[in-house]
Amino acid sequence: MSSQSDQCAATQPRPQSLDNGAGLEPATARVADTAQFEASSAADEFPTHVPLPAYLQQTYWWAYLHPAAVRFFERQWLVNLILWGNFARLRDLALDEIGQSIAGDVLQVACVYGNFTERLIERLAPTGRLDVVDVAQVQLENLKGKLKDPSRIGVYHQDSTDLRFADASYDCVVLFFLLHEQPEDVRAQTVAQALRVVKPGGKVVFVDYHGPSWLNPFRYIMTAILKTLEPFAMDLWRQDITDWLPDRGRAFKVEKETFFGGLYQKVVVTRP
Ligand SMILES: C[S@@+](CC[C@H](N)C(=O)[O-])C[C@H]1O[C@@H](n2cnc3c(N)ncnc32)[C@H](O)[C@@H]1O
Repeated sequence: MSSQSDQCAATQPRPQSLDNGAGLEPATARVADTAQFEASSAADEFPTHVPLPAYLQQTYWWAYLHPAAVRFFERQWLVNLILWGNFARLRDLALDEIGQSIAGDVLQVACVYGNFTERLIERLAPTGRLDVVDVAQVQLENLKGKLKDPSRIGVYHQDSTDLRFADASYDCVVLFFLLHEQPEDVRAQTVAQALRVVKPGGKVVFVDYHGPSWLNPFRYIMTAILKTLEPFAMDLWRQDITDWLPDRGRAFKVEKETFFGGLYQKVVVTRP
């Protein structure tokens, strides 16, 4: 676990370019041009079109797009089962990296089934704020249904490859099991966007699949599951997340840990 001083909760010094205040404006002012809607608003009041990526429609419609899928998967025990009982551990690893008490601005790229976002919100200090983006309206509607208190939470209809936030807007950006779903070119754009919107000194936290050790018995069943259902995920078994960072991450501080016999990883990239 990171020390408190390392965490995103400690608001990073504002970069020179943001000293006009743009970096600390509320989310609505931070958005350049977006299909944003606050949690209490109806999505169709904001008709800006954000197309669904082809991989989502072709490979993941059954998991994220169909309303019945949302009703089926939005169960804490089920998301925990999908991660072989590791959901809470992996969630808390990501959240601990963001902070025990989050005083800064956090961006969550892509919704997550289960209580990831609610637990993140519980950690927001009075000055903390969370924005969540997702490319699927049905997921944003589902998230809104889970939010008990929508104040200080921005919910935005955006694609991770085309974030409509100013450069260096956030103290921390978190991506929980998103990269493995994306084809390689999309994944590289997502990583670049996450690094663009995080402030200098801020962190991008990735939690995702990783190639397990040869001795891990889950290796064999997960090979079958991922090759059948999540074809892009095997990239994360073969390559490091740093492979999709600009210049292979040489300009960044990168910390990587693996868990559950190597099947999962947490990678924290700190922007210089
Ligand atoms: C974070 S991932 C998977 C998380 C985890 N497996 C879970 O239990 O929810 C799933 C989310 O990513 C979203 N997503 C996929 N591609 C996206 C993109 N290009 N931009 C924004 N959101 C995206 C999907 O709509 C879905 O809500």
